[in-house]
Amino acid sequence: MSATQQKDSVLSLRGINKTFGAVAALTDIDLDVAAGQVVAVVGDNGAGKSTLVKVLSGVHSPDSGTITFDSKTVDIPSPAAAHRLGIATVFQDLALCENLNVIQNLFLGQELRPLRLNEVAMETRSWELLRQLSAKIPSVRVPVASLSGGQRQTVAIARSLLGDPKIIILDEPTAALGVAQTAEVLNLVERLRENGLGVIMISHNMADVKAVADTVAVLRLGRNNGVFDVNDVSVEDIIAAITGATDNVVSQRRARRKEGLS
Ligand SMILES: Nc1ncnc2c1ncn2[C@@H]1O[C@H](COP(=O)(O)OP(=O)(O)O)[C@@H](O)[C@H]1O
Ligand SMILES: [Mg+2]
Repeated sequence: MSATQQKDSVLSLRGINKTFGAVAALTDIDLDVAAGQVVAVVGDNGAGKSTLVKVLSGVHSPDSGTITFDSKTVDIPSPAAAHRLGIATVFQDLALCENLNVIQNLFLGQELRPLRLNEVAMETRSWELLRQLSAKIPSVRVPVASLSGGQRQTVAIARSLLGDPKIIILDEPTAALGVAQTAEVLNLVERLRENGLGVIMISHNMADVKAVADTVAVLRLGRNNGVFDVNDVSVEDIIAAITGATDNVVSQRRARRKEGLS
């Protein structure tokens, strides 16, 4: 199946438009994400990546277009609505509380009930979640301030899994990380795929995209500028689509192939 023909998409966007005053942030955007598929969304600054994430996480309502989730047309009017549907977002700032420990961060605002915080259940669930991610966290009782960037990303991702989402959106998950920690987070993305989640990963890093994505969706100036199977596209082609160095990389490559030149 090619990247552009997702038959069993969990999430499909069709013709999504979003303007801010005179600025067309998103124009006629299509996107498909299936269970167990990692879709990298790439694009230059201002391409519309963050706006797309915000539409999917219920921060912004699109002006027009259709969002289909689990074969039903849906609206995502609020972050709570996104959560209820099963779309979890890990924003770039992670929104962790430095002074609280891992368990407290995981359950912040959704402490297990009834009546009082069930410390034992929360600790058990924390370890379950982290094990599911093969996470390397030494203790769940240390403050998040003492963790590395990769471990913090892990905690933020684990927290987003508590609502049992079908789609998880990661905004630049490796942007602030060194080599070893980046590898750790990419490993985590693979665990998410193995667990059957659809993953949307916003990224600037072509090595990360090549390492972990199944599909690459390029945004340029708020429009789709190519959806590629990662095995079928070079970094140069992706960059050409991002920068607009060529108008339509796909058709050019097809033409080249037809002529037997590549
Ligand atoms: N809240 C906003 N108000 C006005 N313009 C915005 C707002 N958010 C984004 N934009 C504009 O929309 C376009 C896409 O921005 P954005 O989605 O942040 O791109 P990216 O995340 O790919 O850098 C840019 O021109 C940006 O200035
Ligand atoms: Mg952005």
